[in-house]
Amino acid sequence: MNKTLRLLVAVSALALFAAAIVLARTAAAGAPAGQGAPGQRRGLTPQERRGKAIYLRGESAAGREINATVSDVVVPASTVTCAGCHGLRGEGKTEAGITAGSLTWPTLLKPHTHPTGRGHGPFDEASFVRAVTAGVDPGGNRLAAAMPRFRMSAEDLADLVAYLRRIESEADPGLSETALRIGTILPTQGALAETGAAMRDVLAAYFDDLNARGGVYGRRVELRVAGMGADASATAAGARRLVEQDEVFALVGGMSAGADAELASLARGTETPFVGPATLLPQAGAPVNRQVFYLLPGLGEQARALVNFYARRQPRTPARVALVYPHSGVAAAAAAAAAEDQCAKAACGTLQKVTYERAELDAAALVRSLKGADAVLFFGSGGEESAFMREAAAAGWAPDVLLLGALAAGDLVGNVPPSFKERVFVAFPTVPSDLSRGGLAELRALQEKYKVAARHTASQLAAFAAAKVFAEGLRRSGQDLSREKLITALEGLYDFETGLTPRITFGPNRRIGAAGASVLKIDTEKKEFAPAGGWVKAY
Ligand code: HEC
Repeated sequence: MNKTLRLLVAVSALALFAAAIVLARTAAAGAPAGQGAPGQRRGLTPQERRGKAIYLRGESAAGREINATVSDVVVPASTVTCAGCHGLRGEGKTEAGITAGSLTWPTLLKPHTHPTGRGHGPFDEASFVRAVTAGVDPGGNRLAAAMPRFRMSAEDLADLVAYLRRIESEADPGLSETALRIGTILPTQGALAETGAAMRDVLAAYFDDLNARGGVYGRRVELRVAGMGADASATAAGARRLVEQDEVFALVGGMSAGADAELASLARGTETPFVGPATLLPQAGAPVNRQVFYLLPGLGEQARALVNFYARRQPRTPARVALVYPHSGVAAAAAAAAAEDQCAKAACGTLQKVTYERAELDAAALVRSLKGADAVLFFGSGGEESAFMREAAAAGWAPDVLLLGALAAGDLVGNVPPSFKERVFVAFPTVPSDLSRGGLAELRALQEKYKVAARHTASQLAAFAAAKVFAEGLRRSGQDLSREKLITALEGLYDFETGLTPRITFGPNRRIGAAGASVLKIDTEKKEFAPAGGWVKAY
């Protein structure tokens, strides 16, 4: 195979180190997830935050229904949001000749006349509620039909008013006309300290370079770093300091592996966009965590892609498929659950699940119990997969073997018995062919200009890609930046080419940019990876 494929070793190293921390740290990850601290400095109160969700998205915190009537048709308020017509900051907007006026509280408290000639005295809470629900202003005038009539609970209306009282003074943290402060979370000690430093160097160089070219809309990007702690809660505490004391606007790149749930919850609770953390277990949330944007697939998406790949090539129907994994492994269990679900969806065959005690795999017994299956999804680690294949080969059996590159041993390619020729398929989040000539040249130029040592290539690529996606989001948000605009801009990315990763697509309900995996096979003669399935989608 060509030499780019050999680079795979470097790329899969990212997966491997991420797997290592997942395995080392998930034990500590049972700690309760952090909640957004109420009443934090300059932040919104819980009530104001609930009001904001109504204002921006027509969402009631308690899950109560909010309806709107537009020309006699009742629609969910989420389809006609206040912000959509009155502006993200209540500044008012004119569209197609119709003006939805300013809704900031000071404006509402002043008597005023609208472009249509409609004049009225000051609003108070009661008359505001009447305008929103019955379409009548304090002067007794009917509002134009363009303003929907809303049906919401008294609690929701009170939340909405609380937010409108604050909307004008609510400034996103870390943001000024000339600067934008962001943070990143990286390992700074222990076995991964060097990897963390390599990632930090690239992030620093990327933003230095961006600043040297004038920043984004005249804003310099300032980077703050928080070290990962000894366990998930220490990592989350460090991240919380970045958000609450350093008041960063967003978290970019870095790593969340080992503290995924805690960091995702912190991002959600403090409404801090979190763009491109590296991990094998992304927590995109259900319902979707609006603040998080993972670039690469987690083990779950990769397992789904593997199943889809197999369902497509499936030589025999219905196939007998075995799913084997250690029952104590959090990462493997997550992958297995996803594989099982996808197998049902993609009709991959009849599934037989087998779990074992980690490090106590009896490969010979396993082969005896599974022999005859058409395929084996094997999510063990540290060479267990080759032990299994050796035993199977000895028993004269060679099923298709489907593996996750992130879990398999680093020397897997050299340890596949010849009888498994064209039978071993491995999923990876990225492969060297994702690296475009331009992307690589960009990274090289940065390394040269800022004297960044090229080391831990895979991690540097991940950090670089995260920075690029974030910068793209900033550009698309425009001069009048806010966290909300950034989130909307990122949700608009479709097949975005970073030049370093598979293409990135987000959406209102999609928080994993590259949701799938590249599937390679193993050339047992040359002992190399070879192309097999290309990029396979997870869903
Ligand atoms: C589809 C567009 C649209 C949406 C959605 C919308 N509005 Fe309006 N709103 C308008 C327009 C247009 C007017 C001006 C009507 C007029 O001048 O007769 C208006 C007027 C108002 C007024 C009267 C302001 C004044 O000074 O007289 C209030 C209060 C108001 N809207 C609140 C809201 C709130 C709160 C929401 C969300 C729950 C909302 N609007 C959603 C279009 C909209």
